[in-house]
Amino acid sequence: MEAFESLEEIYSRVWEKLQMAVASRHEPWRIASVATVRDRHPEVRSMVMRGADSDKKIIWFHTDLRSPKCTDLKHCPEGAILFHDNPDHVQLRLNGFFSLDPSSTQSEEVWNNLHPPSRKCYQGPFVPSSTSPVLSSNLPLGPNPLHAGRENFARLIFSITQMDCLILKAKGHIRARWLFTGNGVEASWVNP
Ligand SMILES: Cc1cc2nc3c(=O)[nH]c(=O)nc-3n(C[C@H](O)[C@H](O)[C@H](O)COP(=O)(O)O)c2cc1C
Repeated sequence: MEAFESLEEIYSRVWEKLQMAVASRHEPWRIASVATVRDRHPEVRSMVMRGADSDKKIIWFHTDLRSPKCTDLKHCPEGAILFHDNPDHVQLRLNGFFSLDPSSTQSEEVWNNLHPPSRKCYQGPFVPSSTSPVLSSNLPLGPNPLHAGRENFARLIFSITQMDCLILKAKGHIRARWLFTGNGVEASWVNP
């Protein structure tokens, strides 16, 4: 990553990298490690970045509403998300809370633009993560109507309350943190 001198520069670059992850499957931050809390224990899984809005301080993913992570956040909306960029050696840690958007206009639009093969992820007859007595890819059993699975699809939105960015450098690492309070953004340098 470039030579940064100000918190503002790093902040802008972080949001740019999140946007790039949404736009391209080749970006290192494309796959996020997304952690929820289940019965007071952490549960973490990989998810594809689908959206980032720096004004609203949110990022979002696509999910099957039947999956256990959606039940997790009904009991405890707090979570954490991790990104790592291997070539650039940038780690981003996010804290915040999850919400589900199954039916907004935006969610409807996303569903309408999903290609039929992607819709298959939401058309499986069984609940994701449920055990199976036989080897199962949980694909639809026969030809499905185009909109089958719509009731299982939602956007998983993460509202960020804290960002922590660590940039590894041979000459000395750099670390910065931003707290999003009701009154705006509180930025600070952090000892790596
Ligand atoms: C590279 C990769 C990307 C994935 N992307 C998503 C995704 O965008 N949405 C999703 O719900 N699951 C995604 N998964 C599957 C999840 O990691 C997880 O196995 C599944 O959602 C069930 O999680 P849960 O039991 O915690 O709800 C992805 C898995 C991998 C390996």
